[in-house]
Amino acid sequence: MTTTDLGLPAGVELTPLALLLLGKQADPASERGVDCPGDLPAASDAALVERARAAKAALGDRVFILGHHYQRDEVIAFADVTGDSFKLAQQAAARPEAEFIVFCGVHFMAESADILTGPGQAVVLPDLAAGCSMADMATFDQVEECWAVLADAGIAERTVPVSYMNSSAAIKAFTGRHSGTICTSSNAKRALDWAFAQGDKVLFLPDQHLGRNTAVLEMGMSLDDCVLYDPHKPGGGLTPQQLRDARMILWKGHCSVHGRFTRASVDDVRERIPGVQVLAHPECRHEVVTAADLVGSTEFIIRTLEQASAGSAWAIGTELNLVKRLAAEHPDKTVTFLDKTVCYCSTMNRIDLPHLVWSLEQLVAGTVPNRITVEPETARHARVALDQMLALP
Ligand code: 13P
Ligand code: SF4
Repeated sequence: MTTTDLGLPAGVELTPLALLLLGKQADPASERGVDCPGDLPAASDAALVERARAAKAALGDRVFILGHHYQRDEVIAFADVTGDSFKLAQQAAARPEAEFIVFCGVHFMAESADILTGPGQAVVLPDLAAGCSMADMATFDQVEECWAVLADAGIAERTVPVSYMNSSAAIKAFTGRHSGTICTSSNAKRALDWAFAQGDKVLFLPDQHLGRNTAVLEMGMSLDDCVLYDPHKPGGGLTPQQLRDARMILWKGHCSVHGRFTRASVDDVRERIPGVQVLAHPECRHEVVTAADLVGSTEFIIRTLEQASAGSAWAIGTELNLVKRLAAEHPDKTVTFLDKTVCYCSTMNRIDLPHLVWSLEQLVAGTVPNRITVEPETARHARVALDQMLALP
């Protein structure tokens, strides 16, 4: 392909893109692909910025780029819309005219976008290695086995599955088949209100922390109303009586990023920054959210900072790309990361400018790269659960 084909001015040098592509060449000693045709260009590489701009301009209205709040700045700069997973799902569903949805986020989000968009639309994930460790903590077979355990305890019929968006399409389809709903961190309470109007127990998948925090902090339940189902133990590690007594059956899964914050992180930041307000995402552990001043989704965190008064100090318990961006956007406030150790979501960070440029240039050249498609029967059932979420009051 020439620079002119890509809509670039003559004389622009094309830097070889350094991409680790899964599925291209096998490296038995590594989980990763080994196709890496060049040195990693700097994120601020002016030629890459220009190439992304030119490819996006060449595609025009045919492409719509979604960017999750945890994406790198260099990627967010090219997003048509940014949001949390709920807003991005809504936005994907609201763009029937876009031929290509380039999803700068992680795999489960791209799957949901594919389910919510039409057959003529292609959803592209710029790097297939952008998965989610939490979503991987609940496999379809494990969840089916759990349902059989609930049936043996005589409670499956009274249990409503509520699955966090951060789950595979297969888990969403399970949820749809059993008349449940999907939720995100911005509508978990509304999802639980709805679920408890349908049945008297909830199986909450796969994030134990979001389930527990919402049940206890927002629904007035006690910790004793919740039990933890461990898919690696027979019967989930629970007796049938424990299952019958519980109102919330929490799946033993967690986010490896938010799970890092501890009570000690909160105590430490309060000592370091007098008057600091701690703002934590509900994927954090219960000991963290109970010690925090405010708890909410990424959209809530962003709104809170926008409304905060100049001179106020905030320690934020969520992914670092977002916290750094908030610090840059609010120079009149002290915005700090809740933990002392730097920690990004490694899979969110897989999407970088080289991968975005590669995806866009492939689309300009007439190839759809890294298309995410959900098998139709799975998509049909998953859509029921996603539509239920989108219809929550
Ligand atoms: P939200 O986008 O719902 O805030 O979730 C955070 C997250 O971990 C996404 O992967
Ligand atoms: Fe998954 Fe946590 Fe990363 Fe979100 S932040 S993609 S839940 S590992």
